[in-house]
Amino acid sequence: MAKQQNRKPKGKIGNRPDESVCVLISHANIRRRVREIAQDVRRDFPDEPIHLIGVLKGSVFFLADLARELGGEVSFDFLGVSSYGHGTDSTGEVKLTKDLEVSIEGRTVLIVEDILDTGLTLKFLIKLFEERKPKHLRVAVLLDKAERRIANVNADYCGFTIPNEFVVGYGLDYDERYRNLPDVCVLQLGSRAKSKTE
Ligand code: IMP
Ligand code: MG
Repeated sequence: MAKQQNRKPKGKIGNRPDESVCVLISHANIRRRVREIAQDVRRDFPDEPIHLIGVLKGSVFFLADLARELGGEVSFDFLGVSSYGHGTDSTGEVKLTKDLEVSIEGRTVLIVEDILDTGLTLKFLIKLFEERKPKHLRVAVLLDKAERRIANVNADYCGFTIPNEFVVGYGLDYDERYRNLPDVCVLQLGSRAKSKTE
């Protein structure tokens, strides 16, 4: 389990007065783990072209780093879902907001997701994609908040199991902000910011 490090990210991060962030997983650790995940995927599929499907927008940095570590033949596509409204609480409802551009039939597909939380998003996507008859369908998540699981879903490849805290950075957002932080950080909200999300 990733332990919270008591330090601020380097440089100016542009957070608002009632919000603060604290590094949970450093960029160097993320990159090391992404390399290991790529090795695991290539061990399982040594010679196959791998088609990555990134779930917008949180997975973009993870997908970009994973794609470059994988080697061999790699292609990718993106889809959009909405599962979170504004703020830090899930609505529980999953909707497809942008579909894939190319067919996945007969392909070795790896869904690339930033974080596995309740599992509702991945459950929805796995069902949707299984119907499209890929050759193999696997799931890679950077982060797993195992305590929060509602749906019975597990990732085939997982970067880090994290505690039940709201995290931002390395693609993950709070109201579309903080995606550009290089580290994964815990977001702490003061009482003013919290009341805005309720
Ligand atoms: P799930 O459907 O509950 O598993 O939620 C997955 C989605 O919720 C992720 O793709 C994220 O977009 C979002 N999410 C869940 N936890 C966090 C978090 O701690 N920070 C930012 N986004 C989160
Ligand atoms: Mg997401």
